[in-house]
Amino acid sequence: MTKLGIIGAMEQEVEALLARMEEKSESERAGSRFYDGLLEGLPVTVVQCGVGKVNAALCTQILCDCFGVTHLVNTGIAGSLCADLDIGDLVVSQDAMYHDVDAVAFGYPMGKVPGMDVTAFPADDTLVGYAFAAAESVNPGHTKIGRVASGDQFVASKAVKERIIQLTKGLCTEMEGAAIAQTAYRNGIPFVILRAISDKADDSAEMDYPSFERIAAHRCAAVTMELAKHLFDAEEL
Ligand code: ADE
Repeated sequence: MTKLGIIGAMEQEVEALLARMEEKSESERAGSRFYDGLLEGLPVTVVQCGVGKVNAALCTQILCDCFGVTHLVNTGIAGSLCADLDIGDLVVSQDAMYHDVDAVAFGYPMGKVPGMDVTAFPADDTLVGYAFAAAESVNPGHTKIGRVASGDQFVASKAVKERIIQLTKGLCTEMEGAAIAQTAYRNGIPFVILRAISDKADDSAEMDYPSFERIAAHRCAAVTMELAKHLFDAEEL
C-alpha cells in the first residue's frame, strides 16, 4: 500500500497541505512536527523539515524509519538557473545533485559524495510522470523536467549562479532536494522533487524572493495535492 512522505522546508511550503489533510495526527521528532493522515484519500506523512541539507536528510530518514513511507516527494520553491524558467514556473526533478560538495583534492569530481556510486541521484520515473502531469494540470505549459542543484547556500549573485550552472547543468537551485534524494536513494525509496520558481538566483533574488515566496510555495503545494490524487487513483486500479 502506498504511503507518501511529503517534505517541505518552510511553513509556507506545507501550510496549504496541512489545511487540506484529513484524519490528521501530529507528533514531534528531532524538533520537527510530523503530520500523519490522508491527503486526497492517500495515506501521507507531511513534515516541515527546516532549511538546509542536514534538516532535510534527518527528517527524510525519520519518515522512512518511523512512518513507513513507500514514496517521497519534496515540495517547495527554488531559484531559476534557466532563462526559460520564470517566477511561478515549475520544475520536476529528473535527478538531483549537490553544488557544494568538494572532495576534488582526493580525485572526486566536484559535487560527488565520496563512497556514493552516483554523482546525481535519479528520481523515480513513475513519480516523475505523475508529477509532470500534476504540474501541467495546475499550470499548463510552464513545467520542465531536469536536474535540481542543491547546497547550503541561498544563491543571490550572477557569478555564483553561473558557477552552479556550469558545474551541475541544473534547472533550479535550492537547499534540500539532493539531501532528500541521497537519503531516499540509500533507503531504496522512490522520490521526486517538485519546485516552483520564486526568484532568478541572481542579483534580483533578494528583492523577488519575499514577494513571490508564498505564491510559488502554494502553487507547488497545489501540484503536490494533484500528485497525491494521481497516486490514489493508481492504487485504486
Ligand atoms: N530557494 C528559493 N530561491 C533560492 C535561491 N535563490 N537559492 C537557494 N535556495 C532558494
